Amino acid sequence: MHPTERPRRLRADGVRGLVSETSLAASDLVAPVFVDATAEGRRPIPSMPGQERVPVAEARERVEELLAAGVEAVMLFGVPESKDHRGSRAYAEDGVVQRAVRATADTDAYVITDVCLCEYTDHGHCGVLEEGAREDPSLTVRNDPTLELLAETARSHAAAGADMVAPSSMTDGMVGAIRERLDNEGFQDLPVMSYAAKYESAFYGPFRDAADGAPAFGDRRHYQMDPANPREALRECRLDVEQGADVLMVKPALAYLDVVSAVRREFDRPVAAYNVSGEYAMVHAAAEKGWLDLEATARESLLSIKRAGADLIITYFAEELAPEL
Ligand code: PBG
Repeated sequence: MHPTERPRRLRADGVRGLVSETSLAASDLVAPVFVDATAEGRRPIPSMPGQERVPVAEARERVEELLAAGVEAVMLFGVPESKDHRGSRAYAEDGVVQRAVRATADTDAYVITDVCLCEYTDHGHCGVLEEGAREDPSLTVRNDPTLELLAETARSHAAAGADMVAPSSMTDGMVGAIRERLDNEGFQDLPVMSYAAKYESAFYGPFRDAADGAPAFGDRRHYQMDPANPREALRECRLDVEQGADVLMVKPALAYLDVVSAVRREFDRPVAAYNVSGEYAMVHAAAEKGWLDLEATARESLLSIKRAGADLIITYFAEELAPEL
């Protein structure tokens, strides 16, 4: 008895590559960079082994290191020197991200900035607070007054020389407000990558240490998405496309591959996936114990994200993997 079909024939060395359906390239990856206005030197981030906060004075050097590893794009996050209730250091001309962008603008890197307020507000929420929110957990961020602050943050990043802005606050109308401001200020050619389907996820834990952006009270469930909802992700994406989003992001990545795949099928825009801090920390923790092979697991994770349909991946593994790709 011979089997009629033998898929194993195409698994031999020599032919595997010819029939491989998915590929991973260094040019698919974006490396997050944390720039810290309060740091004198580089500071390792304990919950994210291999990642560090760098002072503004070393932002350029850090980006050059990533370029040398083969990473072509970076996403900048800022830790400001001070915080207040309206997050004013997020849109200050001499803010930490604005200074870091100026310092890196003439490198060969493609510089994307995260546009959000949670690292800049003293309450740690992604916008202007509702009155009484500290006492009443049913109240959080006021949507429409936040739009103006996001638009101003994006404009200031563009003016500093950013190549792309990525709003992550899940404020309704954020892409439209930012697009309009950029267009009015002469930045018609600057693309917007929307964190279109961003879920309220426990996988962001290590990032909140890294960027010092944990909410001081409550959580983000009133603006970030309910992890139970895949259809709502398509609605979010549709709204962002209508408002002019150039790239649609799904976040987190690995626990939401069904959403990545659905967004790929439904829309003709490039799809980004954010392989978030918790996904990175888990692999590192298991590898430290000798339970998983770090590089093989990281590679397989990123390949899965590509297979689900992502065109680009924001990942803390970028620097480690790019030289191998
Ligand atoms: C800012 C922002 C967060 C992340 C990216 N941008 C934190 C959050 O929403 O709580 C998370 C990234 C990660 O976990 O790697 N709003």
